Amino acid sequence: MSKGNYYITTPIYYVNDKPHIGHAYTSVASDALARFMRLDGYDVKFLTGTDEHGQKVEKSADKAGVSPQDFVDKVSVSFRELTGLMNISNDDFIRTTEQRHKQAAQAIWKKMLDAGHIYLGSYAGWYAVRDEAFYNESELVDGKAPTGAEVEWLEEPSYFFNLSKWQEKLLAHYEANPDFIMPKSRYNEVVSFVKGGLHDLSVSRASFSWGIPVPGDEKHVMYVWLDALTNYLSAVGYPDEHAAEFKKFWPASLHMVGKDIVRFHTVYWPAFLMAADLPLPERVFAHGWWTVEGEKMSKSLGNAIAPQELVETYGVDQTRYFLLREVPFGSDGDFARDRILTVINSELANNIGNLAQRTLSMIQKNCDGKMPSAEGISPQDVDIEFLEKVYVTREETEREVHKAYRECQFNKILSDIREIGVAANAYIDTKAPWKQKKEDERLMAATLAHLAESIRCLAIMLQPFMPEASAKILVLVGYDEARAKAGVPFSELKPAFAIPAGTPLPVPAALFPRIEAPEGKAANAG
Ligand code: MSP
Repeated sequence: MSKGNYYITTPIYYVNDKPHIGHAYTSVASDALARFMRLDGYDVKFLTGTDEHGQKVEKSADKAGVSPQDFVDKVSVSFRELTGLMNISNDDFIRTTEQRHKQAAQAIWKKMLDAGHIYLGSYAGWYAVRDEAFYNESELVDGKAPTGAEVEWLEEPSYFFNLSKWQEKLLAHYEANPDFIMPKSRYNEVVSFVKGGLHDLSVSRASFSWGIPVPGDEKHVMYVWLDALTNYLSAVGYPDEHAAEFKKFWPASLHMVGKDIVRFHTVYWPAFLMAADLPLPERVFAHGWWTVEGEKMSKSLGNAIAPQELVETYGVDQTRYFLLREVPFGSDGDFARDRILTVINSELANNIGNLAQRTLSMIQKNCDGKMPSAEGISPQDVDIEFLEKVYVTREETEREVHKAYRECQFNKILSDIREIGVAANAYIDTKAPWKQKKEDERLMAATLAHLAESIRCLAIMLQPFMPEASAKILVLVGYDEARAKAGVPFSELKPAFAIPAGTPLPVPAALFPRIEAPEGKAANAG
């Protein structure tokens, strides 16, 4: 039976650029969460897609000498391919040029207009095409946007959204829902921004045409952020509020975003939704940004790292693991080649990989390739303590794990998993099954059975992060392939689900090969 519904979204990616690790990061983090929620018994809808309108995209198409539609058709494919490449389990992929989306965006516009929240005026002010954002004079730093983007002076007729009227309602919502914006530092930033006062927001542009026409006034296209944010609704069937998907999945449980787009998701978006009389999403989580070897990733430096290259060099699971273990989610991180090597070698090859290799090859050799039995051997304190670390039997622990996921504490979750691996490797050394074999083979069998259980549980826990490797490990400890591929629920992290003694196990295969540093540079083995 389903524990409930969970709707999680990534931002939709601008198609003016090729995918890089920043994009892969948002998607992988959302994917880990979506996978966990499914394995924890929820009905999940996981949405990603592409943001295809706006001046920035129009300019990129121009530069490439093709029509905007041809341009977006082409670049959108590379983002769709990114989902395959990074093993993202999204249930839907939305493009803002699709009919279902245009319909939803125009409907929300009409709803806000009819309720008197949109009016015609004229805009005079600064605009940064790179950010697709308006800035006040006072926000500029050395004549540029605070993000460093070039700004241009804009003067044109424009529709406005009465954002200034929503200040108190937004503040009340933040106060009543302290988890609406996470982490806390972003929450505080947003609250103080809104307390500083809000200006009405220009929500249409009349000086270019690559966008969704404003209903009833086709000289205007909708401001790309109003258009883009609505994707979260289009994908669940809005404007049909009776659609099954809409009823089941709206409001969204989580919008995962990068720190650069917090304001759009936590100020504009909830205000639009309130104006359209729609419920607000439960949470917006803002993650940090990656630099590369200490430098900001940028087109001009040409240092953006293509996810493809990482997957080819290190493997998809290894890349996913690294991205989520390296920095506390929410903080900024630096991508350094020697770090990824160290992490793969010390935590995957030497820890989990080694544990599986040592245990499973001993079982293969000494237990006739079958799951050994611990029956008849009374466990000692060391065994009991070890198994307590491995299993999730207490409801309290279950709740903590669930909370850690909902709060996106991926690096803490991975560090807890790693510790189980370390404890298991220490347990082998303490018990020394190769010595037990000489004393009493039943003692050895019991130790190996406990170890196999620890590997089974580790593999279950690793599924959201490393779906391929964990499925492989699950097969090595006796699950049939179809079950392993479909995913083993977290509720099986209990002794009752141990693989029965006597189950034949396949010949173990190496899981995480050590990676050598290029050009003779020593990779720290950790
Ligand atoms: N199109 C908007 C989002 C609209 S959502 C209604 C957009 N697109 S984006 O392609 O520029 O960025 C998408 C995501 O990638 C954002 O969450 C952003 O934070 C993330 N990243 C882009 N560069 C990044 C890094 N260098 N590091 C980490 N994430 C980064 O914004």
